[in-house]
Amino acid sequence: MEYRIKDISLSDKGKKKIEWAESHMPVLLSLKKKYEESKPLKGLVVGGCLHVTKETAVLTKTLAAAGATVAWSGCNPLSTNDDIAASLVKDEGLSVFASRGVTNKEYYDDIYSVLKFNPDITIDDGADLTIEFHKNLDKYGKNIIGGTEETTTGVLRLKALETNSKLGYPIIAVNDAETKHDFDNVYGTGQSALDGIIRATNVLLSGKTVVVAGYGHVGKGIASRARGLGASVIVTEVDPINALKARMDGYTVKPMEEAASSGDIFITSTGCKDVIARKHVEKMKNGVLLANAGHFNVEISIDDIKELSYESKKINENVEQFLLKNNNKINLIGEGRLVNLVAAEGHPSEVMDMSFANQFLSVLYLLKNKGTLENKIYKIDREQDIMIARLKLESMGISIDKLSENQSKYLNEYGEGT
Ligand code: ADE
Repeated sequence: MEYRIKDISLSDKGKKKIEWAESHMPVLLSLKKKYEESKPLKGLVVGGCLHVTKETAVLTKTLAAAGATVAWSGCNPLSTNDDIAASLVKDEGLSVFASRGVTNKEYYDDIYSVLKFNPDITIDDGADLTIEFHKNLDKYGKNIIGGTEETTTGVLRLKALETNSKLGYPIIAVNDAETKHDFDNVYGTGQSALDGIIRATNVLLSGKTVVVAGYGHVGKGIASRARGLGASVIVTEVDPINALKARMDGYTVKPMEEAASSGDIFITSTGCKDVIARKHVEKMKNGVLLANAGHFNVEISIDDIKELSYESKKINENVEQFLLKNNNKINLIGEGRLVNLVAAEGHPSEVMDMSFANQFLSVLYLLKNKGTLENKIYKIDREQDIMIARLKLESMGISIDKLSENQSKYLNEYGEGT
């Protein structure tokens, strides 16, 4: 076991949090029970790069219980829970390279510490590890079977590699599972992004105007939760179909340049850069809050805000206030990084249960199909999605109807009409 973490003495606190998560992740736990005796991952190294949270801890424990050697790094400089990292090292004997507040160099050093384990399978969130691995496949890739990707941004980056025929091993796009993006991205981010903003500022959402940039799954979740808390919501979009969906869901839709002067709270969730830039900040009201819920810290142009400011000060651990030359104040939460993980605890365990059950089963799928997959991006098997949904419903004590033979026949034929 090797590690680079902040403080191993935090392990007791981390262990209690992990136990809490475990008691809210029944699907993943049932998979752990199912595979802990047969140990299908014995002899394999799983190299992960994914937010070190209590939920991720349950995933790493499941992989280890199934026999894997686990080497793990964080996938965002500010999202690691140091107490969780400590417990994974001290109580579980896993190799963890992650701490909150790492520099850019430390962040990449941690990723390389994982790569040095010569992973058989990678698990990534945002594709930083997978891209670095691709630069060094000769050096560290002798055992590689395949990898998984957790998030929309990561899948997009890897699709670009695939399009350029540069993908070096098969990848399962976990994000594309319905039991992932229809729940984690929507309900998970919808709740946890607002949780982050509220924990950082204690702001009252009721009566505020919240501007949500991007109406993909994430934006949709945030907009609906903000409305539920009494905010009026404006959506900005570049995609006409998403814009139309937002309007028909009852939101005001405008370009950011128009929304900038009306918003009290701005939340970006587009996956693109410079969504809030100089021309928008210049129009904003005094005292607005800016937060980002997209994977990378490029959506709000911090350079532009700095150029418009004469001073900045920390209001608390997660809020930096910029004093603009036009005498307005702008409050940036979590340095423009993923607000739900920087200022809160990420998505709740109940929703990560399904995302990480998908991760675990995808790892098993890669192993089962070793040598038969091409260097392509694969979707999750529909069977896997259905199984996870069934297990989740069962854990919630919900039963559903079953098609009769006649109904199945009807759905599979075209003969019966008016
Ligand atoms: N992404 C969003 N929320 C998360 C969580 N709780 N754990 C790991 N990754 C996440």
